Amino acid sequence: MRFSSRSPEDTKNLGQRMGRLLKPGDILLLFGDLGAGKTTLVQGIAQGMEVPPDQYVRSPSFTLINEYRGRLPMYHIDLYRIESEGEMADLGLEDYLFGEGVTLIEWGEKLFPDQKTDQPPIIPIGLRVDVRLQIEEENDRTLILTLHPETPAGHPLFALQ
Ligand SMILES: Nc1ncnc2c1ncn2[C@@H]1O[C@H](COP(=O)(O)OP(=O)(O)OP(=O)(O)O)[C@@H](O)[C@H]1O
Ligand SMILES: [Mg+2]
Repeated sequence: MRFSSRSPEDTKNLGQRMGRLLKPGDILLLFGDLGAGKTTLVQGIAQGMEVPPDQYVRSPSFTLINEYRGRLPMYHIDLYRIESEGEMADLGLEDYLFGEGVTLIEWGEKLFPDQKTDQPPIIPIGLRVDVRLQIEEENDRTLILTLHPETPAGHPLFALQ
């Protein structure tokens, strides 16, 4: 599925629609350059997941993982600063990925360190959704959402378009 966004608000609106459709255990891998709009999308997803506005979504670049409580737990993870498999292991991602919450991972690229695998063993494939954000122009973004073939056919996200 492909979407264009012409402003941060557009990106948040799309996120909001996505957030309403996410299910327990869903894992979103967010790919895209610095400033592509990953955190902006997550802010919209938080709204769609009914995270109260006083739990303001900020980039977890320093804390690496932020937890929010909406209609489901929402875990917002930023792997940008992760530099080794050891650091990755220290995060204890499994605790989040196999829970009842929704996990949103910025810099999903870091899960594919050797470029050889297209499926990191830690991510259950049927729950994985890839979101690629591309910078077109100053305020223009293209967002490409990919559900994997193993995603159950009835997943609400299929209704997004
Ligand atoms: N259509 C758009 N969608 C999202 N953000 C946009 C758009 N147009 C302009 N922007 C701007 O781009 C920036 C996106 O920042 P954001 O923190 O969401 O990016 P990011 O992908 O999370 O970056 P990082 O890799 O540093 O975490 C913001 O300053 C936002 O105002
Ligand atoms: Mg960010």
